[in-house]
Amino acid sequence: MTIQTGDLREMKTDIKKVDRAEMAEKLGKALASSYVLYHKTQSVHWNVTGPQFLGIHKLTEGQYEDLAASIDEIAERIRALGAKTPVGLSTYIENSAIEDKVECGDVKAMLKQLSGDAITVANQMREFVKTAEEADDVFTADLLTARIGVLEESSWMLSASI
Ligand SMILES: [Fe+2]
Repeated sequence: MTIQTGDLREMKTDIKKVDRAEMAEKLGKALASSYVLYHKTQSVHWNVTGPQFLGIHKLTEGQYEDLAASIDEIAERIRALGAKTPVGLSTYIENSAIEDKVECGDVKAMLKQLSGDAITVANQMREFVKTAEEADDVFTADLLTARIGVLEESSWMLSASI
């Protein structure tokens, strides 16, 4: 998933074209990771069983709804930077920081995996905030920073439910 400067729309922004290309590429990875986490969160939402069913079913519902909104936000930021969004589920899986499958059996193991995944995605975004700051792309830095906060909170809530 490489974005060349030639693929970008001409814009009158103070963010350099080369930086827009790099940022769009990294946002594409953040999008891929968020998409995979969205899918995994739904997998847990659907397959959870046991005495904690209702709590975890509801917790994961709130989390996948938030992820869905964030996926749209990240994709549209890529467009606002003048690039095209990545297309294809296989592209998302290849570019995600986390694996696409969650072992759906033991509830504790499922929650542990989701909780760890949220932190992995947050850590990936933290790296990308540095790129955004260096490029003076303040909006992307803000967007990713906000996502890190939400993901770290999700990770805590999942691990607190174990
Ligand atoms: Fe549901």
